Amino acid sequence: MEQLVIHGGRPLRGTVEASGAKNAALPLLAASILVDGVVTYHRIPHLRDIATMMSLLVYQGAKVEFDDKNRLHIDGREADQPEAPYDLVKTMRASALVLGPLLARFGKARVSLPGGCAIGARPIDMHLKGLEAMGAAITVEHGYVSASAPYGLIGARIFFDQVTVTGTENLMMAAVLAEGGTVLENASREPEVVNLAESLRALGAKIQGEGTGTITIQGVSSLRGGSVTTIPDRIETATYLAAGLITGGDVMVTGCEPADLESFLTHLVSAGATVEVNGDTIRCFAKRPLRGTDIQTMPHPGFPTDLQAQFMALMTLAEGSCTVRETIFENRFMHVQELVRLGAEIQLAGNTAVVRGVDHLSGAPVMATDLRASAGLVLAGLAAEGETTVSRIYHIDRGYERIEEKLGKLGAVIERRSNGHSMLGGEGLG
Ligand code: EPU
Repeated sequence: MEQLVIHGGRPLRGTVEASGAKNAALPLLAASILVDGVVTYHRIPHLRDIATMMSLLVYQGAKVEFDDKNRLHIDGREADQPEAPYDLVKTMRASALVLGPLLARFGKARVSLPGGCAIGARPIDMHLKGLEAMGAAITVEHGYVSASAPYGLIGARIFFDQVTVTGTENLMMAAVLAEGGTVLENASREPEVVNLAESLRALGAKIQGEGTGTITIQGVSSLRGGSVTTIPDRIETATYLAAGLITGGDVMVTGCEPADLESFLTHLVSAGATVEVNGDTIRCFAKRPLRGTDIQTMPHPGFPTDLQAQFMALMTLAEGSCTVRETIFENRFMHVQELVRLGAEIQLAGNTAVVRGVDHLSGAPVMATDLRASAGLVLAGLAAEGETTVSRIYHIDRGYERIEEKLGKLGAVIERRSNGHSMLGGEGLG
């Protein structure tokens, strides 16, 4: 099993380019099932989750081809297998994103239930209720969702009890080829949802209101092939900015979208960081230690749950105390005990962590439990004195493209160890 070995305590400095966003690319790829033509995707990151989605589309009969590092062509016209098997869904919950498109295209779909995961139970009941409202008959048996709408889906008004990102995306994709109009109320306003709506529109869909709580979709008879581009990864961008700050360095991320990170950047400024935004670049540094700053995760445009672990890592070395409240997922604090192993002082009570800043962290072996938790541990390891080994890094490979190479470019001493071999990033271990 692979590990990341980090020799911490070096300020990271320099410039790094944002990759395409995993959580934007996944629904865009799933949408290829809806299209009567070839879709060319730009800025697709090389990640484990993207490879899983590609395998799923190939399983369904689509032709999928990377023609250069980050450009992908998908021809879904010959797809004939409206199914997502357990083996693929269990490694990536976002596989459930094919449910809406398969049902819209084939009038039936059989998709494995994703099951729980490290950060919470994460049911997909709102996806299913929405599809039922559009006329689908749904049964859940033997761990699979079977959905059928032999005469096609019919537009409906759907109210989400709770904001759901992939739920909004799934129903938006289902509605694109439905008969009549669909209104999604209390819809997700996440930038990834906006990226999906704009891309579907470029392929012929009729969608309005993305980026607000009400999205309206007027069904069309088909979508045509075309070209779409994934937005920059806001979570990756913020993680590199945090890497600069936690090490007392100075990092600039290029090719990013500052407007998508308003809440995160505002909290950095409250904590005492200097944030310079210039077009599609963000630079962050701090002249003195950061101050403890409270956060509470919320759907966009609130503070993203996908940055909670990274912000908490920053706060472990801030002056004073602060609270980190997680309102989206019930179990997204698995990094807390690992940060404590590195010397952090954190107390947990329900969905709130109280972090009391310490003056240093010290390297130790720690274990990654999920994607963003592992990013928080890598950040803490970059700041900790001595060696930190982060194991189970397959989690981080799901969502961070070439992380050791990018951090190495900024001056981190970080190495991937695999079966006794090592692949050095940056200057290497001296
Ligand atoms: N929920 C339900 N029922 C549903 C759907 C959601 O109860 O039918 C609950 C969830 O359990 C959770 C809340 O609603 O408590 C919000 O979950 P949401 O559906 O928004 O999460 P998701 O769509 O499964 C996406 C991202 C996550 C990110 C969340 C929240 C993708 C592929 N995944 O998940 O990203 O944390 O939105 O912003 O877009 C990650 O990248 O590490 C990651 C976990």
